[in-house]
Amino acid sequence: MTLALGLMSGTSCDGISAALVRFHGRSLRVLAEQTQPYAAAFAQRLRQADELAAPALSALNMTLGELFGHAALRLLKRAGIAPRRIAVIGSHGHTVYHGPRDRIPSTLQLGEPAVIAERTGLPVIADFRMRDIAAGGGGAPLLPAFDEAFFGNGPVRAMQNIGGIANVAVVGRGLRPLAFDTGPGNCLIDLLAQQASRGRLRFDADGHLARRGCIDRRAVARLWRHPYFRLPPPKSTGRELFNAAWLRDMLGPRYAAVPADALATLTYFTAYAIAESLKRFAPKPPRELIVSGGGVRNRTLMDHLTSLAAPARVRSIERYGIPAQAKEPAAFAWLALRTLQGRVNHLPHTTGARRARILGAMTPRAP
Ligand SMILES: Nc1ncnc2c1ncn2[C@@H]1O[C@H](COP(=O)(O)OP(=O)(O)OP(=O)(O)O)[C@@H](O)[C@H]1O
Ligand SMILES: [Mg+2]
Repeated sequence: MTLALGLMSGTSCDGISAALVRFHGRSLRVLAEQTQPYAAAFAQRLRQADELAAPALSALNMTLGELFGHAALRLLKRAGIAPRRIAVIGSHGHTVYHGPRDRIPSTLQLGEPAVIAERTGLPVIADFRMRDIAAGGGGAPLLPAFDEAFFGNGPVRAMQNIGGIANVAVVGRGLRPLAFDTGPGNCLIDLLAQQASRGRLRFDADGHLARRGCIDRRAVARLWRHPYFRLPPPKSTGRELFNAAWLRDMLGPRYAAVPADALATLTYFTAYAIAESLKRFAPKPPRELIVSGGGVRNRTLMDHLTSLAAPARVRSIERYGIPAQAKEPAAFAWLALRTLQGRVNHLPHTTGARRARILGAMTPRAP
């Protein structure tokens, strides 16, 4: 039995998700978890961090390190567990830049591990993506290794995460895991919710706004025409393809005039792109979609997904004892544990890397 703590800050810039996990062989239990929201102004700065000059970027790395360290300590305090009982912290960091297809491939996650180690007194594993890039991979996705380890020995299932971007890993007994980004997740929904509420809302809580609007089926067909959806996996995407400009073009005048309709259409489309992508590309039809990420809490999105993915069943990962926003940090806790043990935590065929590696760089515990 081993305890590990995972930290994650995702593309939505919503906050730091932390999970304290107990691992025992091939089973795990999330003992405590929390998403600590960023202050609105800080989240805004984080979204524009790729434009910062070196001094500001360097300072941001330290600030995020402090915030991650705090998030870890706060979670341990809440769980009533002394830091010394934790074997390792796995920290994904916050991605400021990801350019695996650039002339010089690179990726940059901030949140200084030395600061996290200093504040918590624990060893920290970070920079998981870098090693994959150095080994010729795209630096993502890294979660399929976790999905395979904990869900790979059952029926065919789609491990669907709905974060800023939606991504899936199809796993099952006898199946080589297939992973890819299905398309937009919460990031565009958040954008429309912010516009519809003139900045009052950060996201469409429980999918309330989307439920009030009318779905424009013709716009759904236009959105689905994006060439990304026809590309065979493995593939990944981000805001460079799915952004406000694209949405404005596809939704037409209703984009600005009837925000509730725009949100209803986009929310439906987000579920549609997931269900259709699985029909198109899953090596075998999944019996179940196990959904994680903040998108699980959007009821309208989950209802659409349930009807569109049938006959596959759609279930939140909470049914398997993992709170929806704790999956990613829990996975990084596990990846870090493997690094510490010197064991492979990598599925190179899902990223395009040359061979299996032990991902992650370690900052040791203080002597
Ligand atoms: N109660 C809720 N109702 C609707 N949506 C919610 C709710 N709570 C969270 N969300 C959505 O979840 C998002 C955050 O999800 P999550 O933390 O999984 O994404 P992320 O940080 O972008 O991670 P990733 O790296 O996977 O993209 C929020 O931006 C919001 O859209
Ligand atoms: Mg998040």
